Amino acid sequence: MSAMLPRTRSSWGGATAQVQQTPSRETKHQSGDRRFEMLDASMKRQKYAPDSLIEIMHTAQELFGRLAPDILHYVARALKLPPSRVYGVATFYHLFSFTPPGRHTCVVCTGTACYVKGADAMLARLEQSLGVVAGHTSDDGEVSVSVARCLGACGLAPIVVFDGQVAAHQTIDAALARVEPWGRHGPR
Ligand code: FES
Repeated sequence: MSAMLPRTRSSWGGATAQVQQTPSRETKHQSGDRRFEMLDASMKRQKYAPDSLIEIMHTAQELFGRLAPDILHYVARALKLPPSRVYGVATFYHLFSFTPPGRHTCVVCTGTACYVKGADAMLARLEQSLGVVAGHTSDDGEVSVSVARCLGACGLAPIVVFDGQVAAHQTIDAALARVEPWGRHGPR
């Protein structure tokens, strides 16, 4: 598995207050961004249960690529939780990210089927090649590496998603060849 690094803290300051002020569960985001509708559907499926907070934040991160402050506020309001609690959970777990994804993205599936076919070794080599640890974006903003739970296509394991495109039955050599043009972005 990848190394667990200390989280980079981000501030609630600068949050874009785009959430409507009406205290309704059926939240609507003023931006009109359809991803919020998908997030709403996910929260509705979970019956807005506070116990589902981690699952819901996972969905939010998969939809938006990161947990920006306005997204955390949105979730807190929908679940009727104090924003401080939502923020606390988001900062506690290293799988959540506050930083925008890089220009290039590499998502390694580490679900069971991919894991038994060498996903961990592949992730380690990709991290080494790119100089970026999973869950992080390079300082120059060029490359993000992350892991996913099962992507739902286990018959294609192991899977890596490069810049949004699914690559099936990946080998380490094939994966390294895909990111080679991206260059190295971290310390050697
Ligand atoms: S475990 Fe990777 S797609 Fe299911």
